[in-house]
Amino acid sequence: NPCATSPEVEKYLQPFQLSPETLQEVSARLRKDLLRGLGKHSHHKAPVKMLPTFVRATPDGTEKGDFLALDLGGTNFRVLHVRVEEEAQKVQICAIPQEMMLGTGEQLFDHIATCLGDFLESHNLKGQTLPLGFTFSFPCEQLEIDKSILIRWTKGFNCSGVEGKDVVQLLKEAIHRRGDYHIGSVAMVNDTVGTMMSCGYKDQSCEIGMIIGTGTNACYMEEIKNVKRIEGKDGRMCINTEWGGFGDDGCLDDILTEFDVEVDKTSINPGVHIFEKMISGMYLGEIVRLVLVKMTKDKLLFKGQISEALGTPGRFETKFISEIEDGLENAKKILTELGLDWDLVDASVVRLVCDTISSRSAYLCAAALATLVNRIRNNRKLGHLKTTVGVDGTVYRKHPTFSSKLQKAVRLLAPQCDITFLVSEDGSGTGAAMVTAVAQRLAHQSRLLEESDGEDNEEEEEEEEEGQ
Ligand code: BGC
Repeated sequence: NPCATSPEVEKYLQPFQLSPETLQEVSARLRKDLLRGLGKHSHHKAPVKMLPTFVRATPDGTEKGDFLALDLGGTNFRVLHVRVEEEAQKVQICAIPQEMMLGTGEQLFDHIATCLGDFLESHNLKGQTLPLGFTFSFPCEQLEIDKSILIRWTKGFNCSGVEGKDVVQLLKEAIHRRGDYHIGSVAMVNDTVGTMMSCGYKDQSCEIGMIIGTGTNACYMEEIKNVKRIEGKDGRMCINTEWGGFGDDGCLDDILTEFDVEVDKTSINPGVHIFEKMISGMYLGEIVRLVLVKMTKDKLLFKGQISEALGTPGRFETKFISEIEDGLENAKKILTELGLDWDLVDASVVRLVCDTISSRSAYLCAAALATLVNRIRNNRKLGHLKTTVGVDGTVYRKHPTFSSKLQKAVRLLAPQCDITFLVSEDGSGTGAAMVTAVAQRLAHQSRLLEESDGEDNEEEEEEEEEGQ
């Protein structure tokens, strides 16, 4: 039997070990792809979509208000009632059964409307018409804050009749079909944006939101003049990078392992979100499982015996990686539960496999984040950038060493940036409400300005329209 660090074992792990130079190269490739995504003529075909979010400002900490929030696309579907200034909130988690994730869009939105209805009922909110923040964590072409077209499903969702449609409209129609309650204005946001906004309430230098959970993605504040398909030159807009799609044009093929290729091939969306499939919680467990199966077939583990559980796709959960890396006793327990005949060397090899694959995930995220902070620094022509990243997601939160590895690697890859990492307290829920709150604050401020100017803007706008 080989020991954990023998050359035979090393052979399987080596393709997952990315040198600092490779990470720098990955970061440089992403830098180019960000530009393609921002370009007026290149964005259509760009693998990294760089989607405008219509969020032009982060919170200043004075926002107030009472909101409803929906959060779809992470581990759980949740309904929330948020009071921004009090940080008080009520949350209800609703399961979304697997069949529904693959059923029709109408069924999905009816279910969402039912969960919201039940929530309003049980919290005595049915008579009120509250503004609603909708965190919808999939790539959407946002036309306005309340108009957002689903580009494609990711992360195991594949409901028919939703891609290419306005998701806010589908939600409103479902609520209308019930007819027993009303909602106010809707603000739709990606979970990265929600995370940035909720962290931004506490720390006003937060200008990046990052998720490493079921899926992975990040958003950041970009100069509007660089977003070529948006009119205007002044100020900033939050861009949802959709970095999960990095590599979809084959530009990461040289670092993919045979196991990544297999995970992609057997997923419900082959060829799509290649970067995400190397990083996020939906896929990490399966990569580990495939490596363990191969090593067992090659008689390096478990006396060459694959248990039924280990042979079953999806049975090795990503949370096992965190647990196994957390301690040898956990590893033993999980291997026993998976019906494997293990010895101590097996257990330590499995720990090494988990560590290698989760580390690669952390380093790839670090490379991508380094690209963003370096970009912000260059945009502002700063020698040194101090900024805060709001982070959320089960992988980042639950894994014992993921966050420290990621942070260390970003420091190496972006030495002129000083980054504070702020774990968002339920960002994807409250953040959507925060977007509405910031919009209300800005509207209120500009109303005050208008009043003091005494100008009649409406007339001016009408004249402008007529003149066009
Ligand atoms: C989606 C993103 C989302 C990320 C994290 C990805 O699959 O495309 O929109 O932000 O998952 O939830």
